[in-house]
Amino acid sequence: MTLKYVNETLNFDNIDIKELGQTIQTPYYLYSENIIARNIDEYISELKNTDTLICYSVKANSNLSILSLFAKKNLGFDIVSGGELQRVVRAGGDTSKVVFSGVGKTNEEIELAIKSKIYCFNVESQSELHRIDSIASSLNVQANISLRVNPEIDAKTHPYITTGLSENKFGISQDDVLSTFKTISDYKSLNICGIDYHIGSQITDIKPFTDSAKKVLSLVNELKKIKINLTHVDLGGGLGISYNNESPAKRGDYVRSLIEVFKGTNLKLIFEPGRSIVGDAGILVTKVIEKKNNPNGKNFIIVDAGMNDLIRPPLYGAYHKISSVKENTAPVALFDVVGPVCETADFFGKDRYITADIGDLVVIQDTGAYGFVLSSNYNSRPRIAEYLISNSNVTCIRGKETFSDILGDEERYLE
Ligand SMILES: Cc1ncc(COP(=O)(O)O)c(C=O)c1O
Repeated sequence: MTLKYVNETLNFDNIDIKELGQTIQTPYYLYSENIIARNIDEYISELKNTDTLICYSVKANSNLSILSLFAKKNLGFDIVSGGELQRVVRAGGDTSKVVFSGVGKTNEEIELAIKSKIYCFNVESQSELHRIDSIASSLNVQANISLRVNPEIDAKTHPYITTGLSENKFGISQDDVLSTFKTISDYKSLNICGIDYHIGSQITDIKPFTDSAKKVLSLVNELKKIKINLTHVDLGGGLGISYNNESPAKRGDYVRSLIEVFKGTNLKLIFEPGRSIVGDAGILVTKVIEKKNNPNGKNFIIVDAGMNDLIRPPLYGAYHKISSVKENTAPVALFDVVGPVCETADFFGKDRYITADIGDLVVIQDTGAYGFVLSSNYNSRPRIAEYLISNSNVTCIRGKETFSDILGDEERYLE
């Protein structure tokens, strides 16, 4: 279903990328509905007969057509901004299954979320409790909240995507959590229903997940003793995928082991997966513009996608497999695969064995999560198009930006 060579040409979800190149201009993202559906099923099949809700983490890939796949399957959504909430609504998502995470929600976003009747706010601090309470009170409603705790667990992932360490900005510290819960009854417009945590992203081992779940379960039990009875636990997201032959825990095993920790508690479990649903369901297709070598023996393949289209390699030192669409038959050499952006950090992979000539197509793998969503117009480059394979048909789900999209309303302000 994923990537394989057929007649010496790379196919993705049974679509011949070379043939597609005759009608679609590079660079572009290409996603597979089949792979997304398979990944969702791997979660859902473990959830039968349990009180659970999958809230897809919108930040991983927020294209409306992708979100509508989740809406059609009646999944919930984990959002971190008013913009993401509006995307969920436009995609036909059910706002009563939306949880609102994030360390800095503005008053406007809180008001929009309350008016949209979301399920719950994942609250990160005492002062956020104050603000949500006063906005809910002014609107004459009760707002559902859960408190995000920091389980202070080392998830052993990249420092930029670890969130559950005591030095991170996220959640309420272990020391303050009980006292914060105790204050909630003072707020007349808040309804406490849960506890929430998220320890980081691209975590391949189950142990940090179960360790933090056990810590949170003992907090839930502490709270029970002081008559604070919760109805749900939100376990966040974070399950990793295989970018470079890692062996991440299987989705089903991950879900099962967490259900096991909370069994017998009657708590509803909320999962917020992002990467593990869309990450391996997308590729970035790009074309070789130039090849060059330096006197020191370094070889470069320069492609038409840049770091503005996919920033994960420079941002996190992230590894993505890179494959030539034409199956390598000639002897391969070592190349840095780089983009045209004027930054040394503009690279997709270093010292890769690959054969590709000028004009050939190259695929950067596993780019369905944190790819397009992190793209920008740096170097006045338009954001690229996104396509989706559904039932063996490839359709455009977002066109390439035009030059006027890049300019926005700048010309109005010219003297
Ligand atoms: C609160 C929260 N939930 C869920 C996610 C999704 O994480 P992932 O894509 O690793 O599953 C994130 C991402 O960092 C997050 O911050």
